[in-house]
Amino acid sequence: MKLSWLDPAKDTPPSTADLARIGVRHEQCAPDSADLSGMLDRIMAERGYLERDEIALTPSTPELDELLAKFAREHLHEDDEVRYVLEGGGIFDLRSADGPWLRVEVGPGDLLVVPARLYHRFFLTDARTIRCVRMFKDTTGWVPHYREAEPAPGATAPAAP
Ligand code: LAC
Ligand code: NI
Repeated sequence: MKLSWLDPAKDTPPSTADLARIGVRHEQCAPDSADLSGMLDRIMAERGYLERDEIALTPSTPELDELLAKFAREHLHEDDEVRYVLEGGGIFDLRSADGPWLRVEVGPGDLLVVPARLYHRFFLTDARTIRCVRMFKDTTGWVPHYREAEPAPGATAPAAP
């Protein structure tokens, strides 16, 4: 995992404490480790996830660019977004309501939990490949709420100018 601020005014590099401050959890376990299934089971039990599956994006994924264009728009979900990276890599930009963007580049062995209602966006790295385990309660929590298109549920709409 590699952390960086996108805000040039930030002169100290981010740390895992900055991730914790916005409620993001990170763990590390090598994909070939004998401990992996135990770690994934423990995360599921601790956070009450009911299912897990695997998802892969590669340059030959149908409609990859359309999909990536959606992921690149700032959004949040009503449920946690959990990804454990088996292969490849990806970039999550994360921020609380008005906070600075914190960029998290993940690779094989990284588990990232983006908590429900935290704004984020996602990009692939130049290799355009990622294979991940996802965990979830049910898929209804995944509906993206785009920040520029609609206020988040429960958020106060900005006053008309
Ligand atoms: C998603 C990511 C990639 O919503 O943010 O699936
Ligand atoms: Ni998302």
